[in-house]
Amino acid sequence: MKLGIFDSGLGGLLITKAIRGALPDPDIVYLGDTLHLPYGNRSEEAITDYTKRAMQHLFDAHDCKLVIIACNTASAAALRNLQQNWLPKHYPDRNILGVVVPTLEAAIDAGHKKIGLIATSYIVDSGVYQEELSKIDDEIKLLAHSTPLLVPLIEQSGEAWLEDVLASYLKSFDGDDIEALILGCTHYPSFTRTAEKLIGAGVDVMGQDTIIPAKLADYLARHPEYANAISQGGATEFLVTDLTDNYKQAAQRLYGADIKIQKTEY
Ligand code: DGL
Repeated sequence: MKLGIFDSGLGGLLITKAIRGALPDPDIVYLGDTLHLPYGNRSEEAITDYTKRAMQHLFDAHDCKLVIIACNTASAAALRNLQQNWLPKHYPDRNILGVVVPTLEAAIDAGHKKIGLIATSYIVDSGVYQEELSKIDDEIKLLAHSTPLLVPLIEQSGEAWLEDVLASYLKSFDGDDIEALILGCTHYPSFTRTAEKLIGAGVDVMGQDTIIPAKLADYLARHPEYANAISQGGATEFLVTDLTDNYKQAAQRLYGADIKIQKTEY
C-alpha cells in the first residue's frame, strides 16, 4: 500500500518534496486536482465533493493506506466531514490527515502566544485556524490576513513581483508584535526566506514544509498499523487531473527536479 498526498494543484509538491526529504522510503502517490484549481474560490460543497472523489481515487486506484491533505483549503472545507461521516462507513481501515491542526500545534509547541497567519481568502474567511486554536488554547492570539495574489503569482511565473506584493501584505502586521508568522498555504514555503527578510528578525516564520513532514513522521511512529502497511520502495508517482505545458513547467520549478507528471482521470 502507499502514502497519498493530495493538493488542489501543484503547491503540494513543496510539501511532498519535504516529506520525501524526511522520509526517503515510503512509496508515495501525489495527486493534484489541477482541473478544479483554485479551490480557494469554490464553495464548501464543491470542495468537499472534489476532495471526496480524490480520496476515493487514491484509495481505490492507488491503494493508499493513508492520505495527507496538504491543501489548507481542502483541510478546512472537507476534512472533518470526511473523517467523521464518510471514512468510517466506506474505508474504516484507512485514514486522512489534514494540515491545519498540526500547523497550530507546531506554533503552540514552539511557545508562541501571538501568532500571525497569512493564507488564501477562503482560509481566512472560514475562520478555521481561529476555531481550531480556540479548542486547543483560547489564550493565544491569532491575527490573520488573506493574501490572495500570492498563489496566482507563484503558479503563473510571477515571482519577480512577489517580494513587492508580499511586503505590502505584511504591512498589515505592523505594530502587532507577532512572535510567529504561519505560512498557511501549500505554495508559501517557496518564499520563506523572503518573508523572513521582510518581517524581520525575532519573528518565527513557519512554513508547512518543515511542520508537516515532522508531524507525519511522529504520526507514523505512533501508528505502526499505518507505517507497516505502507510499502518502502522509495517510489514517487505524480498525478494531476489536468495537464498543460504550464503545469509541467510549474511542477519542475516547484519540485526543483525533472519529475514525470501524468494525467489521471476519475
Ligand atoms: N493549495 C491551496 C491551499 O493550501 C491553495 C490553492 C487553492 O486555492 O486551491 O490552501
